[in-house]
Amino acid sequence: MSSRKWSRYLSPRKGNAALAIIEWGRRISQAQQEVSPDEYIKIITGIGLTARDAGTLALIGRKLGPLADAIPGITLPFRTRTLLALSELPAPTLRRAALDGHLKPSMTEADAKSLRPISSKPLPPVIKPTDNWSFSKLWWPTINDQSDYGYIPGDLYVNCLWYYARDGDTVTDPMAGSGMLLRVWKEKNLWLDNDAFNLNIILSDLIPRGPYQKHIQQCDLLSSFPVTKADYIIVDPPYCGLCKGQYSEMAVDLANMEPSEWRKAMQTIARRFRAAQGKGGRCTIIVPNNREINTGHRLLFPEIVRQIWYQNDYQLYDIAYASRRPQQKQGYRMAVLNNRAKRNRVPLTDISEILTFVAC
Ligand SMILES: C[S@@+](CC[C@H](N)C(=O)[O-])C[C@H]1O[C@@H](n2cnc3c(N)ncnc32)[C@H](O)[C@@H]1O
Repeated sequence: MSSRKWSRYLSPRKGNAALAIIEWGRRISQAQQEVSPDEYIKIITGIGLTARDAGTLALIGRKLGPLADAIPGITLPFRTRTLLALSELPAPTLRRAALDGHLKPSMTEADAKSLRPISSKPLPPVIKPTDNWSFSKLWWPTINDQSDYGYIPGDLYVNCLWYYARDGDTVTDPMAGSGMLLRVWKEKNLWLDNDAFNLNIILSDLIPRGPYQKHIQQCDLLSSFPVTKADYIIVDPPYCGLCKGQYSEMAVDLANMEPSEWRKAMQTIARRFRAAQGKGGRCTIIVPNNREINTGHRLLFPEIVRQIWYQNDYQLYDIAYASRRPQQKQGYRMAVLNNRAKRNRVPLTDISEILTFVAC
């Protein structure tokens, strides 16, 4: 692009003031990278900017541009100093503040600075400080192209990796579904500020699908395990009765099994896990209870899993709890269900248990 075109390209945009500033900054940042330093100064001076102001705008473009792309309709302050203060926040803090609705056109520079985490080395808010891993707003909601597939939010995978994975681990999700584990690992710069921390992520599933399909091995866990050694395994099994036919019509699909078959299949899976793990190997199983509110029949899956894993030479190491957010969508159907659950004295299930075991 000639310097004449750059001058036009770098002139301020009209429209939403904050987005216009961000786009302007993005273009200046692009110019910084694409033209020689001398030419850059010439162009910047030519459009009436000092190098310092151009640098400020470029930082705003680089930091806030991806945020504006990720959250369409985001509302941001329009004062450059306030946008600069926001640009200086760590990316996870910024994203959290945006999702929590703390970024407003009326905010001041001081408001923006007050969002700075207290510690100089803050841990991102997606990492939960307690064993309550419930999220009001998700950083990583479903990546399923068909929304009726069961999934767990990436936020939950992040906490599993944070609390239970160790540097250098081979981490396996052998019921990977759409590959959310890989998504959060690819976006680790949002939650992990340690470039030296490395994991070898291995994904497999009976029916690989979704955007990471080509990274997911096809593997029936009842016949084999995708890797010879796994330091840490995370698994989110389908619960029989709840999601029959959701993934496939196959008899080896745990979703299609009767409770007694499901229990047997989980025994096979626990044996396979143990065979792939040395002493000290860790595995996390994510399971909720299931209660049939009309009959009162209960399948207390976390308890069943505990028994099976104890039988297979594992000790329970930790438990965290995550809401499945059944009450998030309120409406007539939910009101009927809630009322029926109360009247029948059969509470609906809200919580998934995140059970982490260690191989003895
Ligand atoms: C609840 S989903 C996991 C979803 C995943 N956590 C995600 O976020 O996308 C359960 C997965 O178990 C898989 N599955 C069922 N039976 C299996 C088997 N015998 N071997 C391997 N995977 C199986 C299903 O294909 C399904 O993708």
